[in-house]
Amino acid sequence: MPEFDIPATTPDAMPIRIWVMPHSRVTQKDDVHTRLAIALGCTPQTLPLTRDVHGRPRLGVPYMDYDLNWSHSGDLLLLALGKRVRLGIDVEKLRDQPRALDLARRFFHPSEADQLQRSGNITRDFFRFWCAKEAILKAHGRGIAFGLNRVIFTLETPEETPHLLECDTALGQPDDWNLHLWRPCADYFAMLAWRQHTGH
Ligand SMILES: CC(C)(COP(=O)(O)OP(=O)(O)OC[C@H]1O[C@@H](n2cnc3c(N)ncnc32)[C@H](O)[C@@H]1OP(=O)(O)O)[C@@H](O)C(=O)NCCC(=O)NCCS
Repeated sequence: MPEFDIPATTPDAMPIRIWVMPHSRVTQKDDVHTRLAIALGCTPQTLPLTRDVHGRPRLGVPYMDYDLNWSHSGDLLLLALGKRVRLGIDVEKLRDQPRALDLARRFFHPSEADQLQRSGNITRDFFRFWCAKEAILKAHGRGIAFGLNRVIFTLETPEETPHLLECDTALGQPDDWNLHLWRPCADYFAMLAWRQHTGH
């Protein structure tokens, strides 16, 4: 089972641990609980994992300095755990999306839909936008219900990771956020979004 660390972005921060696992609806809960319990030094039975009113998983006492999130698509489940950060993760299996442009016109910011229209690879670029938006909105905690158009990205960057241009003030400033897009397997995109966070 591959696991790796995303390096810390400030000297006092800890790296973020990522697990890439096969996704099974039957064993998902046990798999997630087991990984977290080993990492945190407790047992799956005593792991204080709860959900808030928006359905976001949270860790309780004595792990309230930690944040976690997971995402599944196709055959993959990605789990992220970090300390003194607020994080969100999204994984998407790339698949034909004949309505990509319609969806973007309806739910994305107009500048993003315009970029998609100019794209030479609409499927790839739709999922680049989608992963970026979902990961940051999951980190914020309300998920996509908060509004996909309230975070505005550009793909016009030398990196494959989209660049956050603007976000709703509830998410802070764009520069507060770290973003990392990668391909955990062929035909998948994964995105981690995180920012420093010291409160509960
Ligand atoms: C919940 C949501 C993020 C799921 O998106 P998705 O692409 O289907 O799923 P992903 O695989 O990327 O993520 C699912 C995981 O995100 C987590 N999650 C759920 N709600 C979340 C939230 N508000 N914020 C962050 N993470 C959340 C859960 O761990 C969930 O795992 P589960 O399906 O095993 O419970 C998306 O539907 C959403 O943003 N909905 C709006 C919030 C909402 O409706 N919450 C439920 C009402 S209580």
